[in-house]
Amino acid sequence: MFRIGVLVSGGGTNLQAIIDNINNNTIKDAEIVGVVSNKEDAYALKRAEDNNIDNICFKIKDFENKKAFEQAIINYFEEKQVDLIVLAGFMVIISNDFIKHYENKMINIHPSLIPAFSGEGYYGLKVHEGALKRGVKFTGATVHFVTEEADAGPIIIQKAVQVLDDDTPESLQKRVMEEAEWEILTEAINLIKDSKIRITKNNYVKFIN
Ligand code: GRF
Repeated sequence: MFRIGVLVSGGGTNLQAIIDNINNNTIKDAEIVGVVSNKEDAYALKRAEDNNIDNICFKIKDFENKKAFEQAIINYFEEKQVDLIVLAGFMVIISNDFIKHYENKMINIHPSLIPAFSGEGYYGLKVHEGALKRGVKFTGATVHFVTEEADAGPIIIQKAVQVLDDDTPESLQKRVMEEAEWEILTEAINLIKDSKIRITKNNYVKFIN
């Protein structure tokens, strides 16, 4: 069994997509062994609970500092022996030590075609506001490995979504999730689980047949 840990802060629709796709066998021989949220009221925690998935909330303010907060997360996932960590809407900037600890074992889903509308300041609705403001005709989503620079790690999969004339940031956010995020997150997990990708020296992801 491939053991997945998920970090969340919000609604958890991406978490739900992983749960559903494990249940319907789109992701085979895998299980979510733990869900960690930094927010007590994250609906994602309820989704985990409803699906009998072990879950816990660690709040930064309950720890002496950020390092201690991150160490608690590492300890939790070490105990669960995770093979892969998925950042699924985790709204905390994680430190380089944490990232190093899970080098090539941690992925993130971002709601744009990176490098557009990514990096510092581009989170949540701001990503879609940026796309609408620039007038792009296509946006989309990207799954990438997490490295020290925000949203700059090796890109695993991207999928484009058309921007419509009457889109609002909210409607675009919803369509990017429905048409791209849930699907490519699932594909990326399968690719990693089945050892179908490798990272080159230049930090590109190449597919192995
Ligand atoms: C998604 O748009 C994801 O791309 C971004 O945060 C959002 C999380 O949504 N990183 P949800 O909590 O999975 O519904």
